[in-house]
Amino acid sequence: MSDHFTFRVLATDGLARRGEITMPRGTIRTPAFMPVGTAGTVKAMYMDQVRALGTDIILGNTYHLMLRPGAERVASLGGLHEFARWPYPILTDSGGFQVMSLAALRKIREDGVTFRSHVDGKVHHMSPERSIEIQGLLDADIQMQLDECIALPAPEREIERAMELSLRWAERCKTAFGDQPGKAMFGIVQGGDKVHLRLRSAEALAAMELKGYAVGGLAVGEPQAVMLEILEATCPALPADKPRYLMGVGTPDDILKSVARGIDMFDCVMPTRAGRHGLAFTRRGKINLKNARHADDPRPLDEESDCPAARDYSRAYLHHLVKSGEALGGMLLTWNNLAYYQSLMADIRAAIEQGRFKERVAEIQEEWARGDL
Ligand code: GUN
Repeated sequence: MSDHFTFRVLATDGLARRGEITMPRGTIRTPAFMPVGTAGTVKAMYMDQVRALGTDIILGNTYHLMLRPGAERVASLGGLHEFARWPYPILTDSGGFQVMSLAALRKIREDGVTFRSHVDGKVHHMSPERSIEIQGLLDADIQMQLDECIALPAPEREIERAMELSLRWAERCKTAFGDQPGKAMFGIVQGGDKVHLRLRSAEALAAMELKGYAVGGLAVGEPQAVMLEILEATCPALPADKPRYLMGVGTPDDILKSVARGIDMFDCVMPTRAGRHGLAFTRRGKINLKNARHADDPRPLDEESDCPAARDYSRAYLHHLVKSGEALGGMLLTWNNLAYYQSLMADIRAAIEQGRFKERVAEIQEEWARGDL
């Protein structure tokens, strides 16, 4: 295993890239989907299951872990990998986005963000340096700069102010992170739905020569067409030899269309959260297990799936579990959904290697459109 963080593009097909990130804790096959493990757990899953689905890296959240159980405590217990029993790579988000969506009384200043914890109401301050310090205490392999992400639509001057602040914070995070050969700190492109601001952000971050680049501030209320237009403008402005990560995205369709525009990494709560709410993703589209039409259906979600949750349980039983609020309902549907997402990523990687990405995307979309089995 490499003692340095490296990224290699192994094959391209159009703008889609098949690559590999290597680092001391493992290799990440890209395009990659990172299951969200906010509080040190991929909700309703055992880590062994997460790994067995072909997961190379999971995501953790600075914001949640600093509030509970506390970054210093995790560090004294051996770091997040040991604490959560996941010895493979972990990427942590910096906290800025979660502060904006979860905390009360947020106040953003040049120095950082002050907020009231959603857990116990205590006031905290997080500077770019403190965010990197926390991510270091957690021992995250890929750390994210502190940034400010704003919901769309927003006035252009607000978008520009947040983008410029995020650039200054990127510099401070880069300095705070320093030189750690086996790890990486990624910058985050902001700029809302304004192409010229996105380009300014991407170019300034590229000049900082970071080890990877994220595109943030998307899937925050804008139509998919706007997100794709922003990716079309932004990806070519980022260095071709560095990984590109689209934060918080998305649906299977968002993923296909973003890979087609040059994105290498994704994370999203969709498969896990939707699973806990009774929604199953399959190769024939989405199935809402709450619906009464499943009550007498003896068929599994997908008898051809490798995942026991999809193959071995009747829709009638899944419907019963979901309607009864049983924990196993959320567990089986989360398992099914992450299995589907990871099989989709493997499918995408194979298609790029074979030079038939576009054709494969059309086939996958055609299968979704045919509807439920
Ligand atoms: N997760 C989804 N979008 C964003 C973003 O813009 N910034 C950060 N830090 N995390 C995100």
